Amino acid sequence: MVKLVVNGKPVEVAAEADTPLLWVLRDKLGLTGTKFGCGIAQCGACTVHVNDQARRSCVLPVGDVAGKPITTIEALGAHGLHAVQAAWLAENVPQCGYCQAGQIMTTVALLRANPQPTDDDIDSALSANLCRCGTYPRIRRAVHRAAKALRSPAADQVGAAAGEASAAGKARPVPVEASSAAGKAGPIPAAASSAGKGRR
Ligand code: FES
Ligand code: FES
Repeated sequence: MVKLVVNGKPVEVAAEADTPLLWVLRDKLGLTGTKFGCGIAQCGACTVHVNDQARRSCVLPVGDVAGKPITTIEALGAHGLHAVQAAWLAENVPQCGYCQAGQIMTTVALLRANPQPTDDDIDSALSANLCRCGTYPRIRRAVHRAAKALRSPAADQVGAAAGEASAAGKARPVPVEASSAAGKAGPIPAAASSAGKGRR
């Protein structure tokens, strides 16, 4: 048995210590928002947070994270849309959606460490999160949008009113202006190729 703290809740799971965390999250706990892509730490689809750091759960032995706070994509929206999720909607980022939980979790960790990232910072932080659909230009716009929202006093007020999502760490809910704005997202600019530079 392994004792975990997932999305703020203590859980005990029957698993060997060397079982990948991703297997436990999906198969034992039913948290299927975290995706299996490559299984070898190369795509980022399985990204979760451990101690507020982005980690690849497909190669993380569950025994190594016993007792540490683990946050999955399910916790981000638990108290209202997180600013990053709202920005994703506003910029109409997802296409097939498969990579997006990992992209969002990586972005939340990035903005926690760097509240005002440059384009290069964004490309560097997300370059190893692969997207076969090529949503990189929209991801970059959404990261800037989320960063701006998280820096604004309005976001602070809404976050305080709604209560910080304890399981999501510094997750900050924001109004769902996104749903209406999502329809206004423009076409992917020609900058797409440059936004993808450095990505594998
Ligand atoms: S499934 Fe973990 S990095 Fe690809
Ligand atoms: S949206 Fe399809 S793989 Fe990224």
